[in-house]
Amino acid sequence: MILAIETSCDDTCAAVVTRDGQIRANVVSSQGVHDRFGGVVPEIASRQHLKLLPQVVEEALRVAEVTLDEIDLVAATQGPGLVAALLVGFSAAKAIAAARELPFVGVDHLHGHLAAGFLAPEPFEPPFLALIASGGHTLLADVVDHSTGPRLLGQTLDDAAGEAFDKGARLLGLGYPGGAALEQLARDGDPEAFEFPTAARMPGLDFSFAGLKTALLYKVRDLGAEETERRRADLAASYQRAIVEALLIRVRRALRKTGAGRLAVGGGVAANGPLREALSDLGVELDVPPRSLCTDNAAMIASAARYYEPVSFPRYLAFDVYATGEPGGMAA
Ligand code: KG4
Ligand code: ZN
Repeated sequence: MILAIETSCDDTCAAVVTRDGQIRANVVSSQGVHDRFGGVVPEIASRQHLKLLPQVVEEALRVAEVTLDEIDLVAATQGPGLVAALLVGFSAAKAIAAARELPFVGVDHLHGHLAAGFLAPEPFEPPFLALIASGGHTLLADVVDHSTGPRLLGQTLDDAAGEAFDKGARLLGLGYPGGAALEQLARDGDPEAFEFPTAARMPGLDFSFAGLKTALLYKVRDLGAEETERRRADLAASYQRAIVEALLIRVRRALRKTGAGRLAVGGGVAANGPLREALSDLGVELDVPPRSLCTDNAAMIASAARYYEPVSFPRYLAFDVYATGEPGGMAA
């Protein structure tokens, strides 16, 4: 039985997962205190994690109907993410493991998103092409097997897809994070009403969303407050269409380039309905985990931990978190 903790951003998460990938508990406490700042404030996120984590871990154990005596591996997100936020979950997990002299695993957050698909009841087994689109990352990776690190094929050169959703939502007067709210608003709009850039002419498998965000900013300025308000749904629908199209262009290219016939999708943006629909029309075997496993959660961290070499007590006490990139991250 694995106890995992994830605190890389603003969700305080704990989960209990068995070695064969059955989720016994997957608790996510969303902080909801960052709205008024229009983004996550690291110091506030960190304090909230401190406050919420004990009850979130207790809740996970209660739902799983286990005690710490039945846990034989502890895992936590080591990076990438907000250092102040990561530190809370990582230190707590190390302390829980150390108190019982249990083995410990520090998990890469992006491996976690990939490993969401490995969970029961229908694990999606490598090899496959993976698209991870979250608030912090947008990337395509070749996943060969469980133990070799995923091979990075392309990533965003500026904003992440989720960030593009969030910034667009902000320009349209929606709260933070705005992806789901923008999707909701777009339901009443015409996706063909406005033309937004998809960086289609940019060759290769990298993504770029900065131009898109700027295009919306100018459009909103040109329309003026009144007209923007009247056409909010059309703006949302057209903007969303551009993000989905930008993702699809690269996925199609990557499928062609690698010859992969299977695609796994993860990260918060994979919760987006129109994206899920468009991906299901690609004609490849597709794995999109349920929405609760696409957005940040600790079950995916526990899932990934199953494929790491466990570190025995007390060696892991010297481990530290990392904000970006390696160690243990994606091989380029
Ligand atoms: O994976 P995640 O929960 O956290 C990170 O690791 O970043 O992803 C959060 C991102 C946010 O940018 C949020 O706006 C976006 O996922 N998101 C969505 C939807 N639900 C969440 N974007 C578009 N449509 C959605 N339904
Ligand atoms: Zn994430």
